Amino acid sequence: MDIPFNKPFVAGRELYNIAQAVVRGQLAGDGYFTRRCHGWLQEKLGCTKALLTHSCTAAIEMASILADIGPGDEVIVPSFTFVSTANAFVLRGGVPVFIDIRPDTLNMDETLVEQAVTRRTKAVVPVHYAGVPCEMNTICDVARRHGLLVIEDAAQALLSQYEGKYLGTLGTFGCLSFHETKNIISGEGGALLVNDERFVKRAEIIREKGTDRAQFFRGEVDKYTWVDIGSSYLPSELVSAFLFAQMENAERIVAKRRFLFDLYYNALRPLQDRGCARLPYLGKGMAGNGHIFYLITASLEERTRLIGRLKERGILAVFHYVPLHSSPAGRKYGRVSSTMRVTEETSERLVRLPLYFDMGEKDVQRVAHEVMAFYGLA
Ligand SMILES: Cc1ncc(COP(=O)(O)O)c(C=O)c1O
Repeated sequence: MDIPFNKPFVAGRELYNIAQAVVRGQLAGDGYFTRRCHGWLQEKLGCTKALLTHSCTAAIEMASILADIGPGDEVIVPSFTFVSTANAFVLRGGVPVFIDIRPDTLNMDETLVEQAVTRRTKAVVPVHYAGVPCEMNTICDVARRHGLLVIEDAAQALLSQYEGKYLGTLGTFGCLSFHETKNIISGEGGALLVNDERFVKRAEIIREKGTDRAQFFRGEVDKYTWVDIGSSYLPSELVSAFLFAQMENAERIVAKRRFLFDLYYNALRPLQDRGCARLPYLGKGMAGNGHIFYLITASLEERTRLIGRLKERGILAVFHYVPLHSSPAGRKYGRVSSTMRVTEETSERLVRLPLYFDMGEKDVQRVAHEVMAFYGLA
């Protein structure tokens, strides 16, 4: 492919930092670089406590344990999302209750949350698709009135903002991903942001195999022992060393991605104006992070032809998400609580265009030109 869909970006000091970690002689978790990453997340985003994990999946699993999800407990989730948003709760015996998305932001339709609440509901999980914020005021208000925890799946949303606050810091917990497809990467990687002081101590214990080892290392207890359930959720220092180099360049990376996003938007806007295809939407008071640029075509057939045409021209464009409610495991472990019309339509019609740090202005223009030509507008 001349223009791949994604290319992992190396900011500069990643290998140097890894060498530093080796020289320091501590390769297991929670050493110098992990602490630097925690500090960066806490200062930059303004969360109470940041804890690196080995994936966003792991962070959502931790949130599920912290929320005390047990057999039959319900969690309200969109169906248009990655499997981990639901699977992390099913692992604890929980039941994902799927609701539809909004046609503009492709995020959970906040007006459907309240009708999905039952006696068994424990949490609601807004997923900020493409780094575009969910309507958090409404979601947090419903959660407050019904005593639910809010677990933000901010896997794609690092440095996006909702009313001036960073995503991942608005719910009880925020879960980030540093998978190589995200804006800021470490191959595999993630973080749990804890925004309520009451959960910090238990989060540290769950992350350290159910032990109070973090307290022991801080000198708060004189030996460490098994005190709760947990698992091994912390990454090696080698991963954190790589990640810290990315964090130091996070603003630069996101600025470039926003620039590329805007180029696409301006070049393809005539498609939206003429009703040929829809483009991403950001509401008032929201700032995106240039994570994904997508188009919504008129039909599945049109999308298949567009992806095929771009492929012939050496450009890789891809679709996203088979809805969870209709997947084999979704049907077995979850249930739906609304019609899924928008989810189903979006899943058939959405196409993501290439977007990565090293992409040049000319690359974006070339992709946009091919898309416009497909619609007979070039
Ligand atoms: C919305 C969403 N949630 C969770 C995840 C899982 O992230 P990870 O691969 O870091 O476990 C992803 C990954 O693509 C995602 O897009």
